[in-house]
Amino acid sequence: DAMVPASASEKCQLHAVVVPYPAQGHINPCMQLAKQLASRGFTITFVNTDHNHARILASHSQHSSIWKDEGLDIRFASIPDELPDHHDRMADLASLSQAVDDQMPAHFEALVAELCSSDDSRPTCIVSDLFMNFTQDVANKFGVPRVAVWCQSAASFAIHVHMPLISFQGYLPVTDDSKLDPIIDIPGHPPLRPKDLPSFFHNADVSNYMYNFKLRPFQRLQEAKCVLINTFDDLERDVLKALNDGKCNVLAAGPFLPPASLSKMDSKDNRTGTGIWPEDQECITWLENQKESSVLFISFGSIARLSDIQFKELVLGLEASQKLLLWAIRPSLKELIHSLLPKSFLEGEHVYLTSWVPQTLILSHRSVGGFLTHGGWNSTLESLSFGVPTIVWPCFSDQMLNRKWIVEEWKTGKGFQATNAGFITREDIERLV
Ligand code: UDX
Repeated sequence: DAMVPASASEKCQLHAVVVPYPAQGHINPCMQLAKQLASRGFTITFVNTDHNHARILASHSQHSSIWKDEGLDIRFASIPDELPDHHDRMADLASLSQAVDDQMPAHFEALVAELCSSDDSRPTCIVSDLFMNFTQDVANKFGVPRVAVWCQSAASFAIHVHMPLISFQGYLPVTDDSKLDPIIDIPGHPPLRPKDLPSFFHNADVSNYMYNFKLRPFQRLQEAKCVLINTFDDLERDVLKALNDGKCNVLAAGPFLPPASLSKMDSKDNRTGTGIWPEDQECITWLENQKESSVLFISFGSIARLSDIQFKELVLGLEASQKLLLWAIRPSLKELIHSLLPKSFLEGEHVYLTSWVPQTLILSHRSVGGFLTHGGWNSTLESLSFGVPTIVWPCFSDQMLNRKWIVEEWKTGKGFQATNAGFITREDIERLV
């Protein structure tokens, strides 16, 4: 209802302009949401940055036809972030977020103005990542309702809502001395320790760009018609109830996953089709030749990175486990990682080392028996939906919180308790694997 303006006549063509934050972990769920809307009759204009749009096109030769095949009316638009093309955006989220705040608003306004200039293309709503704060200003200016999208868990959302109080109550900065950890009480949430909080808040550094970038949208939540959260009631019922009792207008609208994800089946419908790196399809052939549930799949997503010394220790632990490994290391780290790997590991028959894979296809494959993950929210939902047990190695952001839920609440995996200074030994790794 929030996406249908009160003035809309029955014949009005519903048109949503969908805007993700420009990172893989946000583009994927926003596209799945867009596809769900399109399958209910919406026209979609999906807005990426020029940089990401070009990379998605280059990575998927079939890209433009995927949506046509499905009969969905999804159009693509792109606007610049004005960062140099070679800038490694995933290694520098602060610059990317600053570009979102400073450079993208004028381009987005021009795009919406153009769409509004004709009755045929006028948007009936803007559906945008909560972090894309400027889309609210543009929505207000053009009188178009905005629905916000939260691409992490409801638990993470609740923590952001309560952060000013948590900070005021003196729980920050987070230290490594767990014995002194007090318990933080958040409505509907199981007892929380400071080190489970999203990492951007750990240092309590209010001058840090990301600290403010993450919290600013929460000061104007009421301006959006509602917030769609990428979760579902059975997964986070108490947190969701407390949020709604606390007058946050949130809706558990997820999971935003490819259509076939709700059953363990090998299907091309499990593709996301929005990867910003080319996908290795050969790994599926390699999986075909392995025994059922025999392979450990390893991926740390699109941003997270271990220190070099920790990475080498991980390799030793994995070697000692003697498991079959399918390891996806994103292309930007490939050279560095290969220089850190011992020759025996690179040439070992039990390892398939690759760059970017169709992760949802991998997780739905019968040969995959476990997933060593950084615990990004999309990877968490994908592994839950395919019933793949996880080992969670959180690195930053909401990943510590996701570890807590996976290990302590849902008990669908094991995890390392990563802290800033902690070191995880090869024995720990071997034992968990
Ligand atoms: C970011 C944050 O880091 C994460 O903590 C937050 O919850 C969401 O945004 P990211 O680190 O990339 O995301 O992890 P994740 O949320 O797991 O998203 C990665 C996406 O890329 C998943 O949809 C996964 O299927 C896909 N992927 C990953 C691939 O398609 N191929 C790969 O090789 C690796």
